[in-house]
Amino acid sequence: MDPRPAAFPAELTAPGAADAAFEPVLDVAELPEGAMRRITRGELDILLVGTPAGIVATDDRCPHMSAPLSIGELDGCVVACPLHEGRFDLCTGATVQMPTTGGLDADGAYHPTWSPGGRDAKVDPPGKKAEARRLTRVRRLRYYPVRIVDGRIEVAFPSR
Ligand code: FES
Repeated sequence: MDPRPAAFPAELTAPGAADAAFEPVLDVAELPEGAMRRITRGELDILLVGTPAGIVATDDRCPHMSAPLSIGELDGCVVACPLHEGRFDLCTGATVQMPTTGGLDADGAYHPTWSPGGRDAKVDPPGKKAEARRLTRVRRLRYYPVRIVDGRIEVAFPSR
């Protein structure tokens, strides 16, 4: 991988990040392709990833129920969440696989619960918890601008 920032859709820029100041976070050598690192600034946990499309910075919070994606599994651009089997394309911001709990996608469309192959179908008894799962919306990933200066990766952190 060339140490370069990955392009991302401008509308997916994290709130306050477009004109935020850049801060150095890592040497490029510390983030080879396939690596994921969690960077914390104040209350913000950022996921830095070396993808085939370049370096991506997004929230280290699953867009479903906020689990840390940095301890998930990375396959190219796609990260698998350690909870609920959701998979997300870090290079496009798209949901590749909805969580097992089902619920709403980013456009508000409902998806039912499901079980990985070979396992019994999940029983989702009616009640508040089922309703909460049904109404939980998988949000779109949000991105933080990245640049490389003198071999260091810099990320634009919104003021905090
Ligand atoms: S918290 Fe990531 S799939 Fe549910």
